[in-house]
Amino acid sequence: MDLLKVIKQNAKNVYKHIVLPEGYEERTLQAANTIIENKIAKITLIGDPAEINSKANKLDLINIQKTSIVNPSDHSKKNEYIDLMMELRKHKGLTKDKAAELIINPLYLSCLMIKNGDADGEVAGADNATGDVLRPAFQFIKTIPGISVVSGAFIMIVNDKNFGENGILIFADCAVHPNPTAKELAEIAVATGHTAKAIATIEPKIAMLSFSTKGSASNELVDKIVEATKIAQKMAPELAIDGELQADAAIIKSVAKKKAPDSTIAGKANVLIFPSLESGNIAYKLVQRLAGAEAIGPILQGLAAPINDLSRGCSVDDIVNLVAITANQAAGIS
Ligand code: ACO
Repeated sequence: MDLLKVIKQNAKNVYKHIVLPEGYEERTLQAANTIIENKIAKITLIGDPAEINSKANKLDLINIQKTSIVNPSDHSKKNEYIDLMMELRKHKGLTKDKAAELIINPLYLSCLMIKNGDADGEVAGADNATGDVLRPAFQFIKTIPGISVVSGAFIMIVNDKNFGENGILIFADCAVHPNPTAKELAEIAVATGHTAKAIATIEPKIAMLSFSTKGSASNELVDKIVEATKIAQKMAPELAIDGELQADAAIIKSVAKKKAPDSTIAGKANVLIFPSLESGNIAYKLVQRLAGAEAIGPILQGLAAPINDLSRGCSVDDIVNLVAITANQAAGIS
């Protein structure tokens, strides 16, 4: 069974409630229709019900009538959500007028629904920039205890099954946090280990990547990875984490034998933690394009409830898949 099939089956089993705030967006409507048809999740769309239903009719999407549709400008819990926003952000200078303005923004409304326990997760970004999707999540959903930084992982499925776990590797951070400190890198490693277990269902072997392997180069950038490795090992002694390792020492046994003979994970790493967002984002795109790997994600990790961001170039299938992943995360499988 391929991984996406497993993820979708898990989503069906847990049947979570996912909000799609971009209720007028055509690919989102098509995805919602498929998700309902296949019973992958319960769906709420945000937007004016008359407008959404009329679009759905034109597109012949008969299952949209089985979604619930929340109208941001006429919503029974609007005042309750404004009070909740004030409770969470008054200390940051949020005024009631500003909260009333923000709550009609679907990207804020969906986060408040989740925070209030009225939904389990959100998928957006087909029509909005990453920052606009993430900001309300950072402000109102916040991070899980022990993790201060949100990051984005990709499940990379390569054709050569000798790499990673039968061709499956997890890369992070490829999507969110530009310049992590050593402690933040350690948190990203631990969060990615959990994603590897929960979503990719593999036992993580985590490599903290650098341009140096076990002291082969000395530089403050290398020192940062050494420190991050120590912090991560302390944070999660149950996880197999090692560094600093070059990419070849991490994934190729013969190189690992020479460069890091004492490492328990070198040569067989299946989780690669990149030193910065630049390196992680560039690496996943190169592996996707040059090696023809399938790239599933970004899967946002570290948030107290699952919110995932699509690329604006996404397909209908991408949205369906990300909703299934989000449902898995919501079930605490992540
Ligand atoms: N994790 C947790 N909280 C965060 C994070 C993070 N990674 N980054 C910012 N925050 C919090 C801040 O602490 C702040 O909280 P507060 O208001 O309670 O004090 C709040 O979020 C806003 O912080 P800002 O620094 O103002 O964040 P900003 O909105 O400017 O930037 C953003 C956040 C948009 C995510 C920025 O880090 C960014 O642009 N990252 C790159 C995203 C990107 O372009 N990725 C590549 C494309 S995706 C792809 O190719 C798959």
